[in-house]
Order: sequence, then C-alpha cells, then structure tokens
Amino acid sequence: MDGLSFLVLSLFIKLAAASVTCNNTFDSISATTWVNGVNPGWNLGNTLDATPTEGSWNNPPVDFSTFDDIKNSGFKGVRLPVTWADHFITGSPSWTINQTWLQRVSDVVDAVIERDLYVLVNVHHDATMWADVTAAGANYSAIEEQFYRLWYQVGETLGCKSSLLAFETINEPPASTNAQYAEINKLQGLFIQALADSGGFNSKRVVTLIGPSENADLTDQFLTIPPNITNPYAIQYHYYSPYDFIFGAWGKTIWGSDSDKQSLDSDLSIVRGNFTDVPVVIGEWSASSTFTETAARWKYFDFFIRTAAKYTTATILWDNGEDQLDRAAHKWRDPTVIDILMSAFAGVNNTLADSTEDANAPTQETSAYIFHKAGTNVTDVTLPYIFNGNTLKSISSPSGPLGEGTDYSVDGANITYHASFLSKYLSPSAASGLLVNLTLDFSQGAPLNAAVVQYDAPTLGSSSAAASSVNTGSDLTIPITWKGLEDVAAVKAETINGTYLVDTFTQYDGPLQQGRTTYSSQYNWDGSAVTITAATIQDVVTAGQTTVFTFEFYPRVPGNAVNYTLTV
Ligand SMILES: *[C@@H]1O[C@H](CO)[C@@H](O)[C@H](O)[C@H]1NC(C)=O
Ligand SMILES: *[C@@H]1O[C@H](CO)[C@@H](O)[C@H](O)[C@H]1NC(C)=O
Ligand SMILES: *[C@@H]1O[C@H](CO)[C@@H](O)[C@H](O)[C@H]1NC(C)=O
Ligand SMILES: *[C@@H]1O[C@H](CO)[C@@H](O)[C@H](O)[C@H]1NC(C)=O
Ligand SMILES: *[C@@H]1O[C@H](CO)[C@@H](O)[C@H](O)[C@H]1NC(C)=O
Ligand SMILES: *[C@@H]1O[C@H](CO)[C@@H](O)[C@H](O)[C@H]1NC(C)=O
Ligand SMILES: *[C@@H]1O[C@H](CO)[C@@H](O)[C@H](O)[C@H]1NC(C)=O
Ligand SMILES: *[C@@H]1O[C@H](CO)[C@@H](O)[C@H](O)[C@H]1NC(C)=O
Ligand SMILES: *[C@@H]1O[C@H](CO)[C@@H](O)[C@H](O)[C@H]1NC(C)=O
Ligand SMILES: *[C@@H]1O[C@H](CO)[C@@H](O)[C@H](O)[C@H]1NC(C)=O
Ligand SMILES: *[C@@H]1O[C@H](CO)[C@@H](O)[C@H](O)[C@H]1NC(C)=O
Repeated sequence: MDGLSFLVLSLFIKLAAASVTCNNTFDSISATTWVNGVNPGWNLGNTLDATPTEGSWNNPPVDFSTFDDIKNSGFKGVRLPVTWADHFITGSPSWTINQTWLQRVSDVVDAVIERDLYVLVNVHHDATMWADVTAAGANYSAIEEQFYRLWYQVGETLGCKSSLLAFETINEPPASTNAQYAEINKLQGLFIQALADSGGFNSKRVVTLIGPSENADLTDQFLTIPPNITNPYAIQYHYYSPYDFIFGAWGKTIWGSDSDKQSLDSDLSIVRGNFTDVPVVIGEWSASSTFTETAARWKYFDFFIRTAAKYTTATILWDNGEDQLDRAAHKWRDPTVIDILMSAFAGVNNTLADSTEDANAPTQETSAYIFHKAGTNVTDVTLPYIFNGNTLKSISSPSGPLGEGTDYSVDGANITYHASFLSKYLSPSAASGLLVNLTLDFSQGAPLNAAVVQYDAPTLGSSSAAASSVNTGSDLTIPITWKGLEDVAAVKAETINGTYLVDTFTQYDGPLQQGRTTYSSQYNWDGSAVTITAATIQDVVTAGQTTVFTFEFYPRVPGNAVNYTLTV
C-alpha cells in the first residue's frame, strides 16, 4: 500500500465502529497445535461458497448433522469456504456485509465448534470476482479497501470464538506477474491488519497464510510473511496432482507407478523444504469417488496421506457434495477410501487392490472389482493384491462369511474367487450391474470392497447426429442403457481424417490415453444418459470434421466401448 492510501485507510479505521471486546476467555494455541488438531480435515465445499448464496449450487443449506457424520468418520476439522461477494449491502467506502449472512456464518462456525472440531473460515470465490487482481482494469486500491473492510467485519463477528477457529486469507487468488504476486502479499498484510483492528481475540488467533493461487510452487517462490504479524501462522496450499488423474482428463485412469509416487513425494517435500519451521496444511486435495478408477483412487489416498504425514503436513479433503460424502444419505460414496485414509493417517498398513500401473499398457486391470462379461461362462477369477505385510482374515458377503478353500483361496499375493462361489451371482445371462459387494478383512488396516459386476458394453439410444442439429449452446444428451458399472472411464474423440479433436498432445501418451478428452469439459454422464458438452459440439463444427466419440467403460478392455458420431 502506498503512503497516501494507507493514511486514508488508517483514518477510515479510526472512524469505524469500536472493535469488539469479548467477555469470554481464549485458550491461545500455537499454529502447530491448530494444524495438528485439524488433521485430517474435510471441506464443506459448494455450500457457503456457492454464489449468489448458500443453497444456490448442488447442495442445500448445510444441515448441521453433516458435522456429526464427519466427526463420526474420524475427521478432526472442517474448512468452511465462504463467498462474500453477493452479501455486501453497501459499496465504497463502508462495504457493509448483510448482518443476516454474517450471523449465518457465525451459526455454522458454532455448530462445528460445538462438536469440538477445528474450523477454518476463508474468503472463497471472491478471489475470481471483485478481488481478482488479474482482471482487466483491476483497481487495486478499491480491492484493498473492500478486502480490508470484509476481514474487519468478519473479525468483529467471529472475534470472540474459540481458538478452534482459524482464518485463511483468500482462496486460490489468481496471479501470474510479479506485480500481482506483490499485490497478493499486500492483501495478506491487510488481512492481518484488519484482524488486529477488529479486536476480539483475532490478533492471537491462528491464521493460515497463502501464496499466489495457493499453488505449491508459487507459494515457495513468492509468499512473503506479513511484517509485524502477531498471529500464530501456518502456511496453506492446495494439491491436485497429477492433474489428468485427479480431474478425469485424457484417459488417465491409472495411478500408482513408482514415478507417480516419486512426483507426489517430491512435490510435498519441496514445500516442506522451503518452510522448514512453519506448520503446513494442504487445505484442498482429493481424488473423486465418483469419477476416478477405484483401485487407483485407493492407492492414491493411501500414498497421499502417508506422504503428507512424512512431511508433517496436515490435510483437508475437498468435497463438493458430489465427490465423497452423500450428505443427504449420511453415507460416503466410497466408504473404503475413507477407511484407507483413516488407517493411513493412523500409520497402520493397508492392504490395497492392485491395478495396472504401466502408462503404456493397452488395457487396465483392477482388483477392486470381480468383472464378468455377459455371455461368457463363469470361471475362477484370480486377482492380485498389495498386502503390505498384512494377511487376509476373512471374506464375507451380506449373507455371511465365504469358505476359505471352497469359495476362495489365497496364493501369495493373489486371491482366487472360485467359479462355484461366483456362480451364485454370475452366469452367462445373469442380470447386469453391480450384483454384490464382498468385504475383505485383513490382519490390520482398512477392509476392502470387492464388487462383483456382470457387464457388457452399454447401448446408446442413437448412434449419430448432425452437429448442426444441436441447438447452439446446448449439451447433447444421449440416452444410455447401462450394462455394468454406471461410469464412463474415458471418451476418445477422433475426426474421420484421423486427427484428435482436442488436446492433440495426447498422441504422445499410451494407448489408453491417446485422443482422450476431459470429464465435465467434454463429456459427462448420469444414470440414464451420456452427454457431449456444447463446447465440444462447437469444436466439431469449428474443425469441420465428422468426429467419432468412443465412450469407454470399466473394465477398460477391448469391446467395452460404444461409438457416437457427430457429422458435419
Ligand atoms: C460483553 O458484555 C457487554 C456488557 O454486558 C455487552 O454489552 C457486550 O455485548 C458483550 N460482548 C460480547 C462480544 O458478547
Ligand atoms: C440480507 O439478507 C437477507 C437474507 O437473504 C435478506 O432477506 C435481506 O433483504 C438482506 N438485507 C439487505 C439489506 O439486503
Ligand atoms: C479506484 O478505487 C479507489 C477507491 O475506491 C477510487 O478512489 C479511485 O477513483 C478508483 N480509481 C479508478 C481509476 O477507478
Ligand atoms: C510494521 O513494521 C514496520 C517496520 O518495523 C513499521 O514501519 C510499520 O509501521 C509497521 N506496521 C504496522 C501496521 O504496525
Ligand atoms: C523451494 O521451492 C523451489 C520452487 O518450488 C524449489 O525449486 C526448491 O527446491 C525448494 N527448496 C527446497 C529446499 O526444497
Ligand atoms: C460354456 O459352458 C457350457 C456348459 O458347460 C459348455 O457347453 C460350453 O462349451 C462353454 N463355453 C465355453 C466358451 O467354454
Ligand atoms: C508396511 O508396509 C511397508 C511397505 O510395504 C513394509 O515395508 C512394512 O514392513 C509394513 N509394516 C508392517 C508392520 O507390516
Ligand atoms: C498371481 O496371478 C497372476 C495372474 O494370474 C500370475 O501371473 C502370478 O504368477 C500369480 N502369483 C502367484 C504368487 O500365484
Ligand atoms: C456396493 O458398495 C457401494 C459403495 O462402496 C455402493 O454404492 C453399492 O450400492 C453397493 N452395491 C451393492 C449391490 O450392495
Ligand atoms: C484433419 O482435419 C483437421 C481439422 O479440420 C485439419 O486441421 C487437418 O489438417 C486435417 N488433416 C488431414 C490429414 O486432412
Ligand atoms: C469406433 O470407431 C472406431 C473408428 O471409427 C473404430 O475403429 C472402432 O472399432 C469403433 N468401436 C466400436 C466399439 O464400435
């Protein structure tokens, strides 16, 4: 901040309402205590951060029983992303926030604290709205004024809360130039100043400082700790890597090779190496239970949590309400992956389902499922597991334990499920879909699920359309009859002249990735349809090339795919 604007701001602060005085006591804690305490944590994503307000996106307003579910599952803290942008009721210079909204955030914070969970409040999508320092014509003094006033009011409202509450400057603020990095650091200084000025216990409260974009590398290089900071502070960054696996891009449904593991280890070690004496928390990370391959996801969770622990880094799982916890049903979408997380956190070895790790493999095997193709005879199925020193204690189905030697047998790292047992569920003409879940219990660590699935390639309601027949700006929805897991593994988009519609660099990837597109940007699905997005249809029109979309399913083996052609 330049001298003049600081003077003006200081004057303004003096004129502002007196800061809050608390009547309760505050148990001062160190940033290390807070970071250890919140670990492992969970994000209430797409809720208080939804725009324009809570309930506007895919989640209804938070039901406080969700925090019971979180606590009962072993999580120790909750990050509450909050977007304030649509709750200002006055403009410059007061930037008053709607009292009803401040009270709502305060009530949600209380609900978390009442359950003795740690809690983190931030400024979320504002980062790409009014506070975006990369926006064309961004007025930095206006952003600074509003940002200071925002944190002053949040500080006033939440200033007397318990030390379980910590604050985070701002979520993933975009920045890509030195001037922008400097501005993010300046905003961080104003955040600390506003907290100090707002009174309460805010100058003693733990804060998590952030670097540009909350990106590891930019944080290493450009974060400067605000001078005169009195708050105990930690550093927060976010980790979504490798991008293609985590975001369902380019057919990367495989994870777990030595090189995958080395990259992750190196990334976490570098941040730790730059901030040797500061507690560090990864405030967002995930591998979605709805669109990443199951065995790969189990391996990722196990390795990620162990590696974070190795580098004394706390973790807070991202969950947008569709990725992990089904809040309405009070159930994890993949309970196994949460068990794996908790065992890994406790330092207990997990057994893992093995799966293809070679990026050049032409097919993908996975031991998270016992797949059986319709129309074929039932045979013994042998699947490899990674035991990590554990032994198999039992396998059970909902109707009781399986007999070792009769229903299954163990040979080294392989478990063979006998045809005589599988025939209870499977046959050449059995119903398709996920027929039964088997539970594998081990000497220690998380139990694993082995889902018995009868499958065949699904059928689409139609096989082609003229790109021009789809209304501009509309997605193309194609009805599907599922005949196995209701998941799309990948979608290839190849023009009839043999080029890839998008992301031509995938030509250098392995056979499972060449020409593959990205989940959500290019395709999606639900229980009754697959979708090609409006943007992708526009890509076909722009290319002027008839394009074949190959929808691929699990297991990723030849024949388990269907084509859809968009003509021009
Ligand atoms: C503290 O007590 C005073 C006097 O009873 C009251 O006016 C004030 O609102 C209280 N402050 C808080 C933060 O509860
Ligand atoms: C504050 O928010 C409440 C709830 O959304 C709304 O009813 C009220 O009109 C808002 N107040 C102002 C002054 O905008
Ligand atoms: C930038 O914002 C400040 C503070 O609101 C205001 O005084 C100034 O006029 C704005 N500058 C421009 C160029 O809009
Ligand atoms: C922070 O410290 C610097 C150097 O000691 C001093 O010049 C500055 O006024 C201080 N700022 C605040 C807000 O206290
Ligand atoms: C600090 O971060 C930079 C940039 O990410 C990295 O190149 C360097 O290796 C890190 N230093 C240590 C000691 O880890
Ligand atoms: C499947 O089993 C039937 C009945 O045992 C047998 O006649 C047939 O040859 C088998 N098919 C194959 C492909 O093994
Ligand atoms: C845990 O797993 C690791 C990696 O496989 C292994 O080296 C170690 O011996 C195992 N520990 C126990 C107690 O089995
Ligand atoms: C496990 O099964 C695989 C594939 O069936 C086989 O190649 C491997 O030799 C088996 N390992 C053991 C220890 O039986
Ligand atoms: C198997 O377990 C998954 C969750 O892991 C669940 O979604 C699915 O409904 C279960 N299926 C059956 C047939 O029990
Ligand atoms: C295939 O189509 C694309 C998109 O129109 C074009 O860029 C490319 O040159 C074409 N290639 C051949 C071999 O015709
Ligand atoms: C889909 O189309 C491609 C290229 O046109 C072809 O090679 C492939 O066999 C087709 N796949 C299916 C499942 O029909």
